[in-house]
Amino acid sequence: MSRRSRTSAAALAALALLATGCADLGSGVRGTPGAAGLRDPYFPKLGNGGYDVGHYGLTLAYDPASGRLDGTAEITARATQDLSAFNLDLAGLTVRGATVDGAPAAYNRAGNELTLRPREELPEGAEFRATVTYSGVPEPITDADGSEEGWLRAPDGAVAVGEPTGSMAWFPGNHHPSDKASYDLTLTLPARFEGLSNGVRTARRTEPDGRVTTVWHTPEPMASYLATVVIGRYETTTATALGTVPVLTAAEPPAVAGSAALRKEVPGILARQVKRFGPYPFSAAGVVVTGNKSLDYALETQSRPLFPADSFDRSTLVHEQAHQWFGDSVTPKSWRDIWLNEGFATYAEWLYAEEYEHVPARTRFERAFAQDANWAFPPAAPPSAENLFDPPVYQRGAMVLHKLRETVGDRVFDGILRGWAAKYRHANATTDDFTSYAEAVAGRDLDALWDVWLHGDGKPARP
Ligand code: ARG
Ligand code: ZN
Repeated sequence: MSRRSRTSAAALAALALLATGCADLGSGVRGTPGAAGLRDPYFPKLGNGGYDVGHYGLTLAYDPASGRLDGTAEITARATQDLSAFNLDLAGLTVRGATVDGAPAAYNRAGNELTLRPREELPEGAEFRATVTYSGVPEPITDADGSEEGWLRAPDGAVAVGEPTGSMAWFPGNHHPSDKASYDLTLTLPARFEGLSNGVRTARRTEPDGRVTTVWHTPEPMASYLATVVIGRYETTTATALGTVPVLTAAEPPAVAGSAALRKEVPGILARQVKRFGPYPFSAAGVVVTGNKSLDYALETQSRPLFPADSFDRSTLVHEQAHQWFGDSVTPKSWRDIWLNEGFATYAEWLYAEEYEHVPARTRFERAFAQDANWAFPPAAPPSAENLFDPPVYQRGAMVLHKLRETVGDRVFDGILRGWAAKYRHANATTDDFTSYAEAVAGRDLDALWDVWLHGDGKPARP
């Protein structure tokens, strides 16, 4: 070995040492940053790569008078690659500080991406805990179809709803439906307001300053678009469903009296749905009927769907409760699979009407078949984000299920519905997962059915 090569070997070694040293300081020499999005076909930047969230601990204080939210999000996650940095989705608000595993982390914001750079790299497989403290006046997010999500403020409170991308308006997270997690949420409000969220209310206490704190526990995995906070002058009732499930309903004046009878039906309808779909997937139930005028559709917020006062009727209730199985427990892998939510919840309405209201599903099917709006595109391929909640997703989605039922027979179809809810319970699924599963249960190839009713571009000649 010549002197010169020895020198360069030493220099190389020194460089390597330097590199390791730098990596330990988090400069990203070994690990790389997690991706800024999960490449959803409609929202490519939604969600983030490189980690998987297990739990969100959200501590929120809200002042309805000023609209100011003070929050701390404690996110427990596992790195799925060596990570020098990772992103969270957050829209608006001001980040006050961030830590990873207790140590201050550098952070940076660009658009709806919040990047955290931990002091030490996170090795693949590591469990870590990121904390973000933030505050500000959260704002609604106008989505592609013109509806408003996120944080919807009303004169007397607010509701937070997330489908499809609104949740980033009120807490930082991995806001793609493919990363489900359990939640604990603590909400502090002035005493004259009532606050609700998903899951079981485990505590209610008065703070030294007179504000009231409630604590909400969601042990089952939840997609972030299903997380909710409801703040207003609600009146609540409690009951029990299915023998053991606590039911909490809430309504805001002036809907309290008008919604009372239907709110009482929640346990009964759940019991009927359990007979169809199998075990109820969650440890809590209920409904919220809001007077908040900014919300213009009902949403299947997990365990406690949310309804504008004027859309709280029996079939909408049946629809949102059916989503607890189809959407909330079995969640689409990407937004392209949204018909697995809306087609199923719509068909659940048809099934309910057939069994309890003397309207055969075939009648609903033929009505839907006759409507041009339902043929704009195939249900499993909405052309763009603004079409995710269009009639073909709902009505033609339900028509696919009705044709499946006519093809395989009632008994096999019932098995497919229940088995689907069981096999993908608390998980994510794609359209292909569904067609394969249905074929496996039916014991036959169903390509002809899918080609025409699920994927076909035009309207078939006959219903
Ligand atoms: N999932 C809701 C339902 O039960 C509809 C949500 C509509 N969201 C929207 N951004 N347009 O039908
Ligand atoms: Zn729906």
